[in-house]
Amino acid sequence: MIKPIQLVSLVLAAGFSSFINAMTLDISGNSSICQDTALIQQGILDYYSGDGVFQDPYYWWEGGLAFGLMIENTFLCQNTTFNSKLQDALIAQSGTSWDFMPESQTMVEGNDDQGVWGLTLMTAAERNFSRAANGTESRKNIPEWVTMAQSIYNTMYARWDTSSCGGGLRWQIYTWNNGYNYKNTIANGCLFNLAARLGRYFNNQTYMDQAEEIFTWLVDVDFINLNGSSAKVYDGATTTSNCSDITALEWSYNYGTILGGAAYMYDATNQSSVWESRVNDLWEGTSSTFFNSDGIMYEQQCQASKTCNNDQRCFKSLLSMMLEYTYLLVPTLKDDIYDKLTTSAKAAAGSCDGGYDGHTCGMNWFTSTNDGYYGLGEQMSALGAIQSLLGSSRPDLYKESTNEYMAKGDATAGTATSSSSNEEALLENQLDVTKGDKVGAAFLTAVVLSILIAGSVSMLF
Ligand SMILES: *[C@@H]1O[C@H](CO)[C@@H](O)[C@H](O)[C@H]1NC(C)=O
Ligand SMILES: *[C@@H]1O[C@H](CO)[C@@H](O)[C@H](O)[C@H]1NC(C)=O
Ligand SMILES: *[C@@H]1O[C@H](CO)[C@@H](O)[C@H](O)[C@H]1NC(C)=O
Ligand SMILES: *[C@@H]1O[C@H](CO)[C@@H](O)[C@H](O)[C@H]1NC(C)=O
Ligand SMILES: *[C@@H]1O[C@H](CO)[C@@H](O)[C@H](O)[C@H]1NC(C)=O
Ligand SMILES: *[C@@H]1O[C@H](CO)[C@@H](O)[C@H](O)[C@H]1NC(C)=O
Ligand SMILES: *[C@@H]1O[C@H](CO)[C@@H](O)[C@H](O)[C@H]1NC(C)=O
Ligand SMILES: *[C@@H]1O[C@H](CO)[C@@H](O)[C@H](O)[C@H]1NC(C)=O
Repeated sequence: MIKPIQLVSLVLAAGFSSFINAMTLDISGNSSICQDTALIQQGILDYYSGDGVFQDPYYWWEGGLAFGLMIENTFLCQNTTFNSKLQDALIAQSGTSWDFMPESQTMVEGNDDQGVWGLTLMTAAERNFSRAANGTESRKNIPEWVTMAQSIYNTMYARWDTSSCGGGLRWQIYTWNNGYNYKNTIANGCLFNLAARLGRYFNNQTYMDQAEEIFTWLVDVDFINLNGSSAKVYDGATTTSNCSDITALEWSYNYGTILGGAAYMYDATNQSSVWESRVNDLWEGTSSTFFNSDGIMYEQQCQASKTCNNDQRCFKSLLSMMLEYTYLLVPTLKDDIYDKLTTSAKAAAGSCDGGYDGHTCGMNWFTSTNDGYYGLGEQMSALGAIQSLLGSSRPDLYKESTNEYMAKGDATAGTATSSSSNEEALLENQLDVTKGDKVGAAFLTAVVLSILIAGSVSMLF
């Protein structure tokens, strides 16, 4: 739960300069959408500390997602104002091997955290996000965004674990973190989404085969249930039960990540009937679970009970982004998805009339006005829904083959043989963690994690 006093001061700090009452959204053309999303991003940056990190209590992974939404905005609105800021953020958090395992996260990073940053790097690749807008030497020397995505993907895929549940990634990377004994959909969903997108970007069968493998595993353990025409996507299960004790909570970002990955596979396989059927069932499940009878998106697991934590309050942003990509990749679903996104975007804009700046967004979009909630998650969710309407007005998601200047990537990034990585040094670092360090780390993470994963613990029970 948010700290109201801290946030009130932040909203105050947002300034009176651009005071407006409520946010009007005209969905014809791009000018109203781009003006609104500029205001919403101003609200996002009120919480920004710099160097790729948002202020406490917002966690590292949420920053990764916020930058992905903002990179998407630079493309949809053709606005380079924040290019430098976004490049700085990605570079600052990329770690020594460009795999987004920075030292600051060494003790606490989870597969889902790393994976969500990976989705952002793929967006940077597919939107041809500039690496060198301001031409400094350091920018010229960084690897391509897609190479960083491959580095993330390779380090994650190397953690595929067959010691329980017949496969899958654990939620946590490190044994000393709560959640090491839990395998979940978001960690594996990010891996799946990355494999599908890398497969499509490079037209590479290896990634596509791995995407199929990951998806099949998620179905095998029943995290994804494709029984009937409306798919279900659950949160995860413990390794100690061999994944038999499913936590049947349903979160919008899990559905979004899986649906989006399936849409990429549908496109990458040249509209295979297998992926067509999966993508249709996943959309059916998403549409019947996360939209009310008016067609407005909501986080059904916690929104009505007002129990959504900071993490959960930004989940809708990931769903919106994946719905945008799905309607671009699966034309037969375009009208249905676009219709619900339009209704949701209008409702979201209606909620953006709060705070001292007069355009702070709320959590619940059913009310035509701000519901009293505000924070990074509310800004991100409104941004995702509103900008998603511009997908068709811009070129399709790029691939390596789009033109000869597209990023070529490096399939070995993040592996021991990689030329662009310093993986050995990093590995040594990790293995160097002595018993004493572990105790210290356990203490540190007990403190950090008691807050950090409060939301995820509530996902467990
Ligand atoms: C571009 O983005 C900046 C920062 O959000 C904003 O101030 C400006 O109005 C935007 N330009 C256009 C043409 O929308
Ligand atoms: C807005 O749409 C118009 C007409 O389609 C297009 O010419 C223009 O480039 C677009 N502007 C932005 C910022 O995307
Ligand atoms: C380039 O980026 C750096 C870091 O964000 C910034 O300090 C500098 O002013 C930028 N230079 C130009 C010419 O925009
Ligand atoms: C654990 O689950 C996997 C996947 O469902 C299954 O293949 C395996 O046989 C199970 N192992 C045990 C010991 O039950
Ligand atoms: C496809 O990707 C794999 C790594 O995932 C790589 O080993 C292989 O060389 C790639 N194939 C082509 C044709 O680029
Ligand atoms: C699939 O659905 C049918 C009918 O609703 C039910 O009888 C069956 O147990 C379900 N199977 C699985 C694996 O959920
Ligand atoms: C899909 O079609 C394109 C163009 O014909 C081809 O290059 C590509 O290899 C095909 N992909 C698959 C997975 O069949
Ligand atoms: C991507 O960016 C590069 C370098 O900025 C440019 O040369 C290339 O044409 C762009 N690709 C597309 C498809 O716009």
